[in-house]
Amino acid sequence: MNASTTTVLYPGSFDPLHRGHVDVVEQGIELFGRVVVVALHNPSKPSGVFTIDERVAMLTASLSHLRGASVERFHGLAIDAATEFNTDFILKGLRNSGDFEIEQQMAHTNYSVSGVRTVYVPCRPDQVFLSSRFIREIAQYGGDVSHLVPAPVASELARIFPSAPRPTGSSS
Ligand code: PNS
Repeated sequence: MNASTTTVLYPGSFDPLHRGHVDVVEQGIELFGRVVVVALHNPSKPSGVFTIDERVAMLTASLSHLRGASVERFHGLAIDAATEFNTDFILKGLRNSGDFEIEQQMAHTNYSVSGVRTVYVPCRPDQVFLSSRFIREIAQYGGDVSHLVPAPVASELARIFPSAPRPTGSSS
């Protein structure tokens, strides 16, 4: 179906990448051809756990099987990343109306200041609950999130939280 050469920018914190993100990349490749996945710093989310280098390494390992995907890092605005990596527009995934509110405001602002447009794809219904923040929190306390993330991410989570105890509810 797709014969175009459109390249889209998929920016995110990816701290860490989860299966919902991978789905958005796959949808982007199917719809547009090429997706440049860019690990960006999100100033409103300072409490992450992985460095940009670690996020890029996990993205690269997790997406290497997708021929239309490439991985980059950028410090700055998403619209400047769109210029830097020669992308036609920005791609975002929407899980719910909360995402829509935030993304719509960013999309309008980005278009207003740069002319760079944003398109959305709906996240898979069985993955709308996925959130990097909750994955981090559960992994930190020893919970099993390996089915929610690509294998390279599961390995990294096990590396940085090697002996995180599972709370038992007992204080004795
Ligand atoms: O995965 P996230 O944390 O939801 O991704 C948000 C991100 C990093 C894509 C967003 O915060 C962003 O675009 N940050 C770069 C700074 C920027 O462009 N700010 C202007 C927004 S209108």
